[in-house]
Amino acid sequence: MDKLLILDFGSQYTQLIARRVRECGVYSAIMSFNIDLDAIKKICPKGIILSGSPASVLEKEAPLCDAKIFSLDIPILGICYGLQLIALLLGGKVERGIRQEYGPAVLSLVKKLQLFKGIKKETKVWMSHGDKVVLPPPEFDILAKSPFSPVAAIGNEEKNIYGLQFHPEVVHTTDGKNIIKNFLKICNCKFDWSMGSFIKYIIPKLQNEIGQKRVICALSGGVDSAVTAMLLHRAIGQRLYTIFVDNGLLRAGEPEAVIDLFKKQFQFNFHHIDASGLFLSRLSEIIDPEEKRKVIGNLFIEILEKEAKKIKDVDFLAQGTLYPDVIESVSFRGPSATIKSHHNVGGLPEKLPFKLIEPLRELFKDEVRILAKELGLPEFIVKRQPFPGPGLAIRIIGEVTPERLRIVRAAERIVTTEMKKAKLLNKVWQSFPILIPIKTVGVMGDRRTYEYVMALRIVESVDGMTADFSRLSYEVLARISNRITGEVRGVNRVVYDISSKPPSTIEWE
Ligand code: XMP
Repeated sequence: MDKLLILDFGSQYTQLIARRVRECGVYSAIMSFNIDLDAIKKICPKGIILSGSPASVLEKEAPLCDAKIFSLDIPILGICYGLQLIALLLGGKVERGIRQEYGPAVLSLVKKLQLFKGIKKETKVWMSHGDKVVLPPPEFDILAKSPFSPVAAIGNEEKNIYGLQFHPEVVHTTDGKNIIKNFLKICNCKFDWSMGSFIKYIIPKLQNEIGQKRVICALSGGVDSAVTAMLLHRAIGQRLYTIFVDNGLLRAGEPEAVIDLFKKQFQFNFHHIDASGLFLSRLSEIIDPEEKRKVIGNLFIEILEKEAKKIKDVDFLAQGTLYPDVIESVSFRGPSATIKSHHNVGGLPEKLPFKLIEPLRELFKDEVRILAKELGLPEFIVKRQPFPGPGLAIRIIGEVTPERLRIVRAAERIVTTEMKKAKLLNKVWQSFPILIPIKTVGVMGDRRTYEYVMALRIVESVDGMTADFSRLSYEVLARISNRITGEVRGVNRVVYDISSKPPSTIEWE
């Protein structure tokens, strides 16, 4: 399988470059800009893309890659900062622009090399930069200009090194994908990447990495851990020990579904630990949301370690970490790494007695869903909405008690059933109830009631980083509300959360 390597200098668009390359049918891997030359050679990329960056090449601390990559005889495409870096490292000249160029611009082609094959002489592109190249390096041609960038694209066809001032990866660049495809053709890539080929690529890689050793993998019922386990099961069979820790904070029917699927249907080496009582007692009297998260995360690891000791000779822990989790949680992979600390990875202690295996760490959620389907996972897992690690505990404001769990679980089942009936369950990002531990007065029959308030959180989002509340029809909302107040003992009022993220968050805790 041909691979394209993307060196990440911290641009918010790096993930998008990877996506576009894969959409063209070529596998792409993202690595930090400071990866050393030997590691690059090991990857054997057919081409390298240098990403953009919030930094300036003119800064003292500017992130630089090893300049020897230009002598590897591998085609290189620099995007924005990547272009400026090529100019700087190969003897051109970069200056701080008098004004920043941000937004749409018209690109005029000056010289039409293969990179611009099939592209109109004038085309709309997306610009986002402060510095600009004023002189290309020797032996480089100026390929295009724009009103504020006299050097908007450069190229050396003999060495196959190119640079673009604009961003071909964003949709506002009309011919962006065609330009990327042209570059991939220059790299002589075969356009044969699909999730099926990912499976063929990753299984021998896992087998090689693991050898005859044993691996544990915690199953949660979510799509990421399910796909991770399926891949490992294909790679090493019964040497994979899946551990399902029932923390008592799952949705109605969830533990049964997980056990049925992985233990009975797929016949995994499956360890079921019912720790619901333990979790509940450790959560007793805890009100602070962060404290709840910590208690749950720590206990989970404690149980996992104990179980691994029983299995003996476990060398690896497999995790369903995805690419967005990686850039959100760690800072060693490049500057685009400091957005927020992530919940899945964040729970792990610094020193683990296992080596980590993360087969999905270069994929995006929707790619994992395609993979899940390819691997034969059922629809309820493939299309499942995200569910937080700390489970229903963070959907009960204040103390978690068995009674409150019963209420939130029953309400959750109603929300999910009604959203499914209305064919909305897979259209929204998440839909769930939250128990507010405040009692209000109501009336039922002739009787006065004094019971909890339940909030509904139904949001649309692309990646969970920002979100807006769903403009659901009143009919659907009314059905959910009527059923909750009518069927769930302990609730007499339902309210709808109409806040966006930011400034709110999706979960209430
Ligand atoms: P927030 O509440 O931060 O949520 O807007 C963004 C997305 O992350 C999920 N989430 C979590 N996932 N462990 C997880 O695995 C957690 O502790 C956690 N907290 C929030 C949330 O459901 C939403 O999809």
